Amino acid sequence: MSIVMKLTDIHKHYYMGDNDLHVLKGINFEVNHGELLSIMGASGSGKSTLMNIIGLLDHPTSGSYKLDGKEVSTFTGDDRAMIRNQMIGFVFQQFFLLPRLTAVQNVAMPLIYRGINKKESYDRCMESLKKVGMIDYHDHRPSEMSGGQQQRVAIARALIGEPSIILGDEPTGALDSKIGQEVMDLFIRLNEEEKKTLVLVTHDPKVSAQCQRTVHVKDGLVVDDERR
Ligand SMILES: Nc1ncnc2c1ncn2[C@@H]1O[C@H](COP(=O)(O)OP(=O)(O)OP(=O)(O)O)[C@@H](O)[C@H]1O
Ligand SMILES: [Mg+2]
Repeated sequence: MSIVMKLTDIHKHYYMGDNDLHVLKGINFEVNHGELLSIMGASGSGKSTLMNIIGLLDHPTSGSYKLDGKEVSTFTGDDRAMIRNQMIGFVFQQFFLLPRLTAVQNVAMPLIYRGINKKESYDRCMESLKKVGMIDYHDHRPSEMSGGQQQRVAIARALIGEPSIILGDEPTGALDSKIGQEVMDLFIRLNEEEKKTLVLVTHDPKVSAQCQRTVHVKDGLVVDDERR
């Protein structure tokens, strides 16, 4: 199996005035192509900070992060955004759909800056909505959908750029367990059928148990790497 992400001695400090908050204290781990991995740890242990670094939304204070063999920890704004758009789809606990837009318009958001014509964009969005079982809701706004349905649309949006990696920061955290399981089933299908690499932060042991591997984070360090 080949390595898609390799983090070596990753540190993250947040500096606020005179305060130096040392959040990540030397994170080491690798993720293989096609892995379905969960990250667990207490609130405040640094999981979202780590996900933001993995997902190129933020950069580490020090350490090496190789994504597909490329050292990306030193990349700045535009370069980070470019790699992120090509490789990574993000799903968050709070969906972050735009309330005034329909499902298909929300899914189209990442395509807006790509210069793709309207017809092609629409077709691709409908295809993506189909993949997550939301085609019948393409012209519904977020307020007309349940939490699980909104999260499916958010996943369709994450998939629109055909990323090889999907990152979820507590993607089932706002859903009841039945709906959360449906979203999890979708992630498992994307992993098995489309060979996507998935990294999911979760507090839910039932979600974690369905992943091939769980990395446990405590006080900014990886303390256990559990494989099933
Ligand atoms: N942008 C920021 N500026 C300053 N401090 C931050 C920032 N983001 C996070 N922190 C701090 O870093 C620590 C880790 O936060 P983080 O969000 O990574 O935790 P978490 O493991 O995701 O927690 P939760 O399970 O509650 O989501 C916390 O003490 C938090 O207050
Ligand atoms: Mg968090």
